[in-house]
Parts: sequence; C-alpha cells; structure tokens
Amino acid sequence: MADPTELLALATSLAADAAQLLRDGLDHVHDVDTKSSLTDMVTASDRASERLIVDGIRAARPDDGILGEEGTADPGTSGVRWVVDPLDGTTNFFYGLPAFAVSIAVEVDGVTEVAVVTDAARGETFTAVRGRGAQLDGRPIRCTEADRLATALVGTGFSYDAGRRARQGAVVAQVLPLVRDIRRVGAAAIDLCWVGAGRLDAFYEKGLAPWDLAAGGLIAAEAGARVGDLDGGPASGAFTLAAAPAVFEPLRALLVAHRAGDA
Ligand code: IPD
Ligand code: CA
Ligand code: CA
Repeated sequence: MADPTELLALATSLAADAAQLLRDGLDHVHDVDTKSSLTDMVTASDRASERLIVDGIRAARPDDGILGEEGTADPGTSGVRWVVDPLDGTTNFFYGLPAFAVSIAVEVDGVTEVAVVTDAARGETFTAVRGRGAQLDGRPIRCTEADRLATALVGTGFSYDAGRRARQGAVVAQVLPLVRDIRRVGAAAIDLCWVGAGRLDAFYEKGLAPWDLAAGGLIAAEAGARVGDLDGGPASGAFTLAAAPAVFEPLRALLVAHRAGDA
C-alpha cells in the first residue's frame, strides 16, 4: 500500500528540483521545436524537466507507472501511476512571462490521491492529498465564497488547434459580458490552483490533457471548489470546470447554453 505522505514528499521534492531546472533554462529558451501545431512549442527545458522527474521516480519507486507529456508512457505494475506535466505554460516560459509550473499528480488504482503544482516563477508550491485539504506553501487554502456569476472572475484557456480556438473564442465572447472579467493565465495547472487559492472564482477549458488537470483538479477540489465536466461527470479532456460552489451551476448552465462542450 502506497503511503500518501511519502508520495507527497517525493512529488514535492521532484517538483522543486524541476522548477529550479526551469528557472535555470530561462537563459537558453530559444532551443525550441513545435508539436501538434505551429503554436504548440516544446523547449529543451520541457524535455529536461520530464527526464529529471522520471529519473527521480524510477530511482525511488521502480514499479510505478508514469505518464508524462513529453513521451513517457509506462504502465508500471504497482497500481501507482504518476501523471506529469514537466512544464505547464510553455508559451509563457518562452516569452519570459511569470506563469509556468511543474505539475505532478499521483494516482492509486486510477484515483488521484496526491497532487503538487510548483509555480516556478513565483516560487509557490500548491499541494493536496485526497481528503486532507489543499495547501499553499504548507498553509491551508480555500476557494472564494462567490455566489454571483456577474461578479465572478473567470479563467479560461485555448487549444493549440486553430479551429477549436475559433470556437472557444466564440464561447468566451458570450461569457465575457456576463462575468466580472476573464483571465487567460496560460497554464491550466496554475488556473486550477488559483481557483483553490481564491485568486479566481472559476476556471473552464475544453480539451485539457490528463497532465494539465490531474494535480490542479485535486488541489481545487480539496480547497472546496466544485470540479467537474458539463454533464455531471468528473473533469476530463472533454471539459473541465472548477468553480466556487455557488458559481459552478450558473456558469455550467451558461456554458451549456453556448455549446462550450462542442467547442
Ligand atoms: C497548455 C497550458 C494552457 C492551456 C493549454 C495547455 P502546455 O499546456 O496549460 O494554459 O490553455 O490547453 O495545453 O502546453 O503549456 O503544457
Ligand atoms: Ca500543460
Ligand atoms: Ca507541458
């Protein structure tokens, strides 16, 4: 049986080392390739961060599975699987904008039990263990008590696919007049943690990958936010909505009305 406290300690230590690697990499950020589209970049730092984290997991827990954005896909045999975004916010990183993070979630028998998101530029670490609340640098965090969509600050994000992006733009044009304002932070893991920390009242995005949402989703939920899709199911690539509890339903209804799930 995996001990969540030990998993959290390993995840936190690897995220701290990877965040340092990212900060060091800001000096040679122009070493870049593209992936799914011209706008979807991958830097040497994305790959080096994944290598550091994967090597660290394998040294400590050789039987665990690992899913990493930059190509690691190892099912493992222990029932424990690590889901890793070695650099969330690559576009921000490339431009030197201070919102990029290391995201590490640990699943046990398919359920996310442990989460760490280290915001490398701000030097902040968000953590959660299922059932034990969420913390920022060791201090408990809570989502806001927002109860009106009209005054909710809402984060969102956009795909790297131009067609989907056009549809997402049409949805956000409908949402913008009905909320306090929109933020596009550029790192979904940070958006989700910021819902948990009360820096956003809500966040939504269609098309996230498991490594974008696994850790941040648990942190937001453990901080009291409601986290799910548009149909009453868990957050997924199909749709991720995280919000202060009283804002979730009105925002969900608005997104459904504007067919955000089809975007
Ligand atoms: C992206 C960021 C972005 C979100 C995209 C993600 P990456 O991850 O989280 O905010 O809108 O959907 O793909 O490519 O920077 O790891
Ligand atoms: Ca990501
Ligand atoms: Ca990434």
